[in-house]
Amino acid sequence: MSDWHYLRKDVLEQVNPSQDDVAKLKVFVSKVLDDINSIIKESDIDAVAEVHGSVAHGTWVKGEQDLDIFIVLDKKLDRSMFKRVLDLVKGYLDEWVEAYAEHPYVQAWIDEYKIDFVPCFGIELNQQIISSTDRTPLHTKFLRNELDASLFDEVRLLKQFIKGIGVYGAEIKTGGFSGYLCELLILRYNGFTELLSEAESWGESTVIYFNGDHDVNYLVNRYDDPLIVIDPVDRSRNVASAVVPDSYWKFVSAARAFNNCPDMRFFYSNDVVQPESVLLSLKDRETDIVFLVIEESEAQVPDSLWGQINKTEEALSKLLIKNDFRVYRGFTWSNEKTRHIFVFELESATIAPTRKTYGPPVHMELDVEKYFEALRRRDNTVSGPGLEDGRWWVISRRKYTDAVGLLGDFLMDGGRDIGVSRNLSVKILQHHRVLLNEEIEGYLIDGFEVELYRFLRGTPVWFN
Ligand code: CTP
Repeated sequence: MSDWHYLRKDVLEQVNPSQDDVAKLKVFVSKVLDDINSIIKESDIDAVAEVHGSVAHGTWVKGEQDLDIFIVLDKKLDRSMFKRVLDLVKGYLDEWVEAYAEHPYVQAWIDEYKIDFVPCFGIELNQQIISSTDRTPLHTKFLRNELDASLFDEVRLLKQFIKGIGVYGAEIKTGGFSGYLCELLILRYNGFTELLSEAESWGESTVIYFNGDHDVNYLVNRYDDPLIVIDPVDRSRNVASAVVPDSYWKFVSAARAFNNCPDMRFFYSNDVVQPESVLLSLKDRETDIVFLVIEESEAQVPDSLWGQINKTEEALSKLLIKNDFRVYRGFTWSNEKTRHIFVFELESATIAPTRKTYGPPVHMELDVEKYFEALRRRDNTVSGPGLEDGRWWVISRRKYTDAVGLLGDFLMDGGRDIGVSRNLSVKILQHHRVLLNEEIEGYLIDGFEVELYRFLRGTPVWFN
């Protein structure tokens, strides 16, 4: 028997729900559906509650009891009915949170299950969708017809592999592979190892479709995405549009490494990270790590948090670069409630007090005049202007020689001027700290220490 045979068995033992899990879930789902459906019936709204997503497809991974309950409304109804059916759902629940991800939905925990209640319109295949979630019941129908039960294990292996290498999830935070995309990839290649064998030689763009004719060149030009998987229920949608190039190439590289040497570390990381060891590696490091910690006492988290984080990360990085700091890379961690930490690795957090810059060439008379005028208005010239190889130069004093001071100054007013997002800028005004290297010690908790450890290490968890 091959190593893969045993490894596969081990992974499946961890990802496959037990018969008990399945039976319990079935009872739970049918109770919730019955309850919700009788409430809807009493209200006289033409709608029906159905279960969709991985639970309906038979591809859910053990331990992730995420249920998607869709309230499918008759398509003749008005969008304002979304709110009405969600109000009915809320009346049924003891506790819930309302979320809005381009579409309203309600999230609740009952027993060990996390449930999303999502309204949508019931449409038929090839009809125009009305809201973004209308495709979901069609996905379930498609997969029930096309995805053979013998491939359910394969989907679970793929989901766990993609989680293991850190690219599972279509949210902005991850920019990776959704569960539905995993299902379609397995369907296309007919198995997990079969998919990975193909993926190791994927090029700059990969196009996959299931039905109809498609012009591949047209698709590659139309979508600016490395992976294009045409939704079998909607030919105008790329199911893989969330997959950013970094996630795509991580998948391709991990597939190559896995094909060479399958190992458990591709599925589950066994990193045990002690804050003390992270601190030690910060102390010994030859680069500098600068942190911006934003803390809020009350969690008021917008749905667009990761969009705001990305915008802010870009603004801070630009500020550092503009002021001559060499930014190697960065990342942001957030507990998605009260604490967000921006991390930048710099060649050095302190730079020389002076810099030499070049002005226009002598023959550009007007530009040279303007250059002199600008120099006259400044009082930071150390030497020059001088002539060298037909150009004017000047050596001047830098305003900022340390990155902590630079960030501190520009964040004093919240940082709106440099492009910090509106919401985070308010939080920055309330409370923030800019820290250098081991000064981060007090924040090496809640999983940040693990992410920082991985960032400092630099290589993917599966890399050997
Ligand atoms: N969906 C989609 N595109 C996405 C995310 C979700 O089309 N980027 C639709 C799919 O129809 C999917 C359903 O929403 O089946 C539910 O998605 P989700 O709850 O995010 O994940 P699951 O597919 O159920 O996978 P899992 O729970 O195993 O992560």
